[in-house]
Amino acid sequence: MCGIVGAVAERNVTPILLEGLRRLEYRGYDSAGIAVINPDTCLDRVRRVGKVQALADSLQQTPLKGSTGVAHTRWATHGEPSESNAHPHICNQQVALVHNGIIENHTELRNAQQANGFHFTSETDTEVAVHQIEYYLNQTGDLLEAVRLAVKDFDGAYALGVVAVKQPGRMIATRSGSPLVIGVGIGEYFIASDVTALLPVTRRFIFLEEGDIADITTESLTIYDKAGNVVEREIKESNLSADATAKGEYRHYMLKEIHEQPLCLTDVLEGRIHEGEVIDNSFGPKASEVFERLKQIQIIACGTSYHAGLVARYWLEAITGVPCNVEVASEYRYRNPVLLDDTLVVTISQSGETADTLAALRGIGDRAWKLCICNVPESSLVRESHLTLMTRAGPEIGVASTKAFTTQLMGLMLLMLAIGKHRGLDAERRHAIIEAAYQLPGQIENILSASDQIEQWADAFTDIDNAIFIGRGTLFPIALEGALKLKEISYIHADAYPAGELKHGPIALIDSDLPTVAVACNDGHQEKVKSNIQEILARGGEVYLFADESLDMSELGDNCHVMPLPSVSAEMAPIVYCVPLQLFSYFVAIRKGTDVDQPRNLAKSVTVE
Ligand code: F6R
Repeated sequence: MCGIVGAVAERNVTPILLEGLRRLEYRGYDSAGIAVINPDTCLDRVRRVGKVQALADSLQQTPLKGSTGVAHTRWATHGEPSESNAHPHICNQQVALVHNGIIENHTELRNAQQANGFHFTSETDTEVAVHQIEYYLNQTGDLLEAVRLAVKDFDGAYALGVVAVKQPGRMIATRSGSPLVIGVGIGEYFIASDVTALLPVTRRFIFLEEGDIADITTESLTIYDKAGNVVEREIKESNLSADATAKGEYRHYMLKEIHEQPLCLTDVLEGRIHEGEVIDNSFGPKASEVFERLKQIQIIACGTSYHAGLVARYWLEAITGVPCNVEVASEYRYRNPVLLDDTLVVTISQSGETADTLAALRGIGDRAWKLCICNVPESSLVRESHLTLMTRAGPEIGVASTKAFTTQLMGLMLLMLAIGKHRGLDAERRHAIIEAAYQLPGQIENILSASDQIEQWADAFTDIDNAIFIGRGTLFPIALEGALKLKEISYIHADAYPAGELKHGPIALIDSDLPTVAVACNDGHQEKVKSNIQEILARGGEVYLFADESLDMSELGDNCHVMPLPSVSAEMAPIVYCVPLQLFSYFVAIRKGTDVDQPRNLAKSVTVE
């Protein structure tokens, strides 16, 4: 989703802004732009549709120079990707602004501003923001006051970076509903949508809170909370190095992140197990009390994180006996759901900023305990939850989630075990599951080093338009996730079904042009999956089956291609089986020549509805 960078310094900030934009490319965008206040105290701006590289090429032709500036990558919401819709937006050559989020009352504001003589050059909701600020700047003569008054007129979500030619060396930054961090340098300050943009210039960050407004110059930083009081916000040191977001030897971030999974899974376990038991405090100081008292669990998430929640429901209900619902946040937030007493709401999110998940969490108010499984410690979801478990996957740059997903699963496995301890899950079973969890990194390494067969299978998918994925039990959500990965990065339409549902409709689709990808582990459902595969084969379908190496699939014949996977317990299977499906989508996408790390139309952090 859109990315913001801004800087106030003594030096030329254009290279810093440009590098920041490159580092935000992973968020997804379709145009990019930079505006700086030049040494003659005028605004200079360059905007381009397409990649940041196109902007960089233009800057070679028309270099920009200035020590105060803002920059943006735009993911179109209101108005097509075009130069005139790209940010920064400028009003009367006086104020430049970059914006993430959506100003929902933009039509009303636009009508009022047009009546006041403001001229519009874009179709965006954002342009009303820059006009409103310029309007108040004319009245008050002070940029901070102008932003403070303007944001009172906005309904919706925003993170803003604003500069004005009459106040060079100053930038106002504010957020409500969209994330924004301030990077603290020596005699210089920066802003960005996330820390990765600023790692080459600083590792010291302040995470603005909802409604904060920051008045930033080279000499000073003053932050006001939403009530207008001056507040001190802690400076946090990031342990990420500037090359934490480098691709290294890999051709794509996605491939790098797939290969990082064994290490990431080890990191999830690190320091959270003592004498074969999950330490409750890994979730926060009050966790034991909550786990003891809870009567039901409600999981809320979106996309891949929702699939992790679906797996967790199988685990939680089957192993701990605690009733568990799972729902996509975009539905949950609007349907006035019933929450029983003593419910634990679990949100799952890589970014911790997903607008729907955050809104669903906020809608719950104080009616439940809130636990968040997340990859970004300073994110809004984490800050607004009572209990948290960080997945420690490190920055995930590929838009299609891989290591974030497997680490979420491992986090949910720890949650299941911690709750199970309070629910009579016997110690022997708990220890066996933990023992099996420690084996996972090695087993996944084995799959990663034997990917040739998966690569060969990918050839058969290069020219197809549709595919079906099937699985049963905990592997049904993995089939959903496999189908999502294929759709996202190869643009092949793929649907996933519980294998038992095929005969209730989807089997009508089966013919020799529609391949099926199936997953089967040794969980007691294998014979049923085999029967479902037989039904597909009998109708001329071709099947690509990832199956536990201990299962005999020979009777399925030549039209069922089988790739054996390491024998793992039923509990561990989802974490292992998603890995070959990730690789499979990756290899198909490579053959199709798509933009694997930044697939079309997608955004990494979905901070608008
Ligand atoms: C798919 C993917 C998305 C996200 C979804 C939720 O590969 O990454 O489906 O899972 O947008 O995002 P988070 O986990 O950040 O809440």
